[in-house]
Amino acid sequence: MKKIIITIDGWSSCGKSTVAKQLAKCLGYVYIDSGAMYRAITLYFLRNHVDWTDVDHVVQALRHINLQFFYNPKSLQSEMHLNEENVEYFIRDLVVAEKVSEVATIAAVRAFAVEQQQNMGIEKGIVMDGRDIGTTVFPDAELKIFMTADILVRVERRFKEMYEKNPNITVEEVKTNLEMRDYIDSNREVSPLRKAQDAILLDNTNLSMEEQLDFALKLVAKKL
Ligand code: DC
Repeated sequence: MKKIIITIDGWSSCGKSTVAKQLAKCLGYVYIDSGAMYRAITLYFLRNHVDWTDVDHVVQALRHINLQFFYNPKSLQSEMHLNEENVEYFIRDLVVAEKVSEVATIAAVRAFAVEQQQNMGIEKGIVMDGRDIGTTVFPDAELKIFMTADILVRVERRFKEMYEKNPNITVEEVKTNLEMRDYIDSNREVSPLRKAQDAILLDNTNLSMEEQLDFALKLVAKKL
């Protein structure tokens, strides 16, 4: 059967990865979490005290970064590896979340990540989520979805997720982080978060997972 590229962009914590993973599973496609790549780069910069305001320092550091996704049969997830270390747990930390949007504004960082993302799509049959996938990474993708949800719903969802790891976290901290990331992601110079003209809007504020998946699968059926 014909294989296509499906892009899912949208605001932080609006459930992109949940829909993308389910969709990939239903179609037998590969799911790629592009945000994990920016998070892993940020983790490397933090651990190695890279001054990311200095372009030369950034370019030099990127030469030492190897990013790979490996499927973990235990968690049934594709997990991010940074220089052969599984960093899936660390990249979800608030320390990384607080800096990742800033790091993702850097042109050299974006060029580094985008090139690898485009290579992952050569054979099609992928669902990739992020912020610029339908606009910059795969502007010719066959199906583009742009997701959104009410900010309070997004905060609640992210809070539940983060609370499991860190019971000291507050709702206010999570809300501040989401709002800050949304602002930086949509106002940066290089590939800001935008709905591609040909993307289909999916507002999941009041939708169950089943309803979202059904919505997405109907869109896929029209493209195949
Ligand atoms: O999807 P996420 O929340 O894990 O993404 C983390 C950050 O990475 C997000 O705040 C912005 C950045 N990002 C990006 O700039 N472009 C992408 N394609 C994916 C993520």
